[in-house]
Amino acid sequence: MLLAVLLLLLPLPDPWSARGHPLYMRLPPSTLQVLSAQGTQALQAAQRSARWAVQRVAMEIQHRLHECQASGPRGPRPQVPLLQDPPESGSCGQRRPGTTNVTRAQGRIVGGSAAPPGAWPWLVRLQLGGQPLCGGVLVAASWVLSAAHCFVSAQNELLWTVTLAEGSRGEQAEEVQVNRILPHPKFDPQTFHYDLALVQLWTPASPAGPARPVCLPQAPREPPAGTACAIAGWGALREDGPEAGAVREARVPLLSTETCRNALGPGLRPSTMLCAGYLVGGIDSCQGDSGGPLTCSEPGPRPREVLYGVTSWGDGCGEPGKPGVYTRVAVFRDWLLEQMNAAPSSREPSCRELLDGDPPDEPLAVAASACAFYARSCAGSGGACAHQAHQQCLQRRRRCELRSLAHTLLGLLRDAQELLGPRPGLRRLAPARPAPSLWEPLGHPARERRRQRGSLAAGARSPRRRPEPRREGNGCPGLEPLRQKLVALQGTHAWILRVPSERLAMDFHEVLADLGSKTLSGLFRAWVRAGLGGRHLVFGGLVGLEPATLARSLPWLLAQALQAFRLAAQAEGELEGP
Ligand code: ARG
Repeated sequence: MLLAVLLLLLPLPDPWSARGHPLYMRLPPSTLQVLSAQGTQALQAAQRSARWAVQRVAMEIQHRLHECQASGPRGPRPQVPLLQDPPESGSCGQRRPGTTNVTRAQGRIVGGSAAPPGAWPWLVRLQLGGQPLCGGVLVAASWVLSAAHCFVSAQNELLWTVTLAEGSRGEQAEEVQVNRILPHPKFDPQTFHYDLALVQLWTPASPAGPARPVCLPQAPREPPAGTACAIAGWGALREDGPEAGAVREARVPLLSTETCRNALGPGLRPSTMLCAGYLVGGIDSCQGDSGGPLTCSEPGPRPREVLYGVTSWGDGCGEPGKPGVYTRVAVFRDWLLEQMNAAPSSREPSCRELLDGDPPDEPLAVAASACAFYARSCAGSGGACAHQAHQQCLQRRRRCELRSLAHTLLGLLRDAQELLGPRPGLRRLAPARPAPSLWEPLGHPARERRRQRGSLAAGARSPRRRPEPRREGNGCPGLEPLRQKLVALQGTHAWILRVPSERLAMDFHEVLADLGSKTLSGLFRAWVRAGLGGRHLVFGGLVGLEPATLARSLPWLLAQALQAFRLAAQAEGELEGP
């Protein structure tokens, strides 16, 4: 269909001639409009994703502050009962021989050690737009359990992927798409109460592959305090430290509710949280481990690992007196089973389900399967009710298409950033100067180039922001690194965060293709003049002038435009620096 639209948008025969030979060709206004509309969507997606990244750290700060302020009376709590469950039938929680030696008390998760390959067949890694963000635990072939706080403001399943466990002999890890994200409906981002989310995979873990599910507890209670359990993940090696390049693991004892309350105060909600670790500090989970497993092994002829906790939060990492906090899994057994066993028709179709199999030309084709949900209370397959249900479904599908387009463009932008590296050919126009005609050679002031180099060398920092006044030492450890992280993130994303939403529009004013510059791949060198939020830029790119090549080149032009605006904003930030 896109092709059909593009056929209508083919370049106008609007060349300039030199001695009768056409030199340049302009893309017609209708193509510029398509580019502008898609560019605007890409900008909106980029702004949402930037806001999300910032908000996630802000939320951690808020939670940390909440923890520090809440230090009221600590009442004793009854001890949790002992675990005496018979092992479940079915294959779960089986570790491979030779991988089960957790763990020397050196090296790191914080204070753990590197796990042998394939040691934790249920440990998965969750990526948002390709960026690893959290851990997760495979609890069934198609289901991963993780922490709800990983998905705050990023519940668009199209943006997430899951990397399953690799094999013990280096068998490659499967990477799968996400079909659905189900955060616990009672999750509270301030207190991290109910910090649990189920993630449904689009394709189940292959039974022939190395990934295996862990066992879920059989009753709402944990093993006794003092039981040595295991944590694993790719998280930071120390508070504010680098992320681990490979899986780390550590042995941590479960602590009694009373010990936890004494250590952590009322921030600990024993109904949904348990804690584990060492009061002397040194061994703990850390940032990036969230959503990963706390498992305890159940003895027997075939020992099995049972998931009792999902990594949730902590006060610093491995600090003395501050054990790590894990969402209790045992108390959510019923919720988990209910969600995993729900009939597909009882849920609104996910975007992935609605977009499956590419846009059908006949929209009714969607109705048959994925849209059935909307017509569930209609009497028959005809009539006004069924018609309305169908419209509702198509509307949702259109929203999904927009999400998906935003996703594609963000992907392109990322690729472009990697591929293009330092961008030559980008020239910034002084705002006061009227935009010159594109085919007049542009001034090339060396100063402009220096600006760009400066901005690139300085990376993502935003020089305009000063660090907030230091408030460390006010009894809230771990706060300062988080604040610094927030400032850095705000800097990286300043180029898009600073554009007010009412001006968040991309305008492609002109694309001029140099007809004498056809490349081997059938594209022409082009100059692009575009505007974003009052800023105007001219940059070079490649464009196709036939339907197929044009279709291929448009996303690249968009990606280049985003890159150009980002670099120009950073260059400006450099000049206005402290
Ligand atoms: N909230 C962190 C994350 O998002 C996990 C922190 C665990 N901290 C700890 N000290 N145990 O990855």
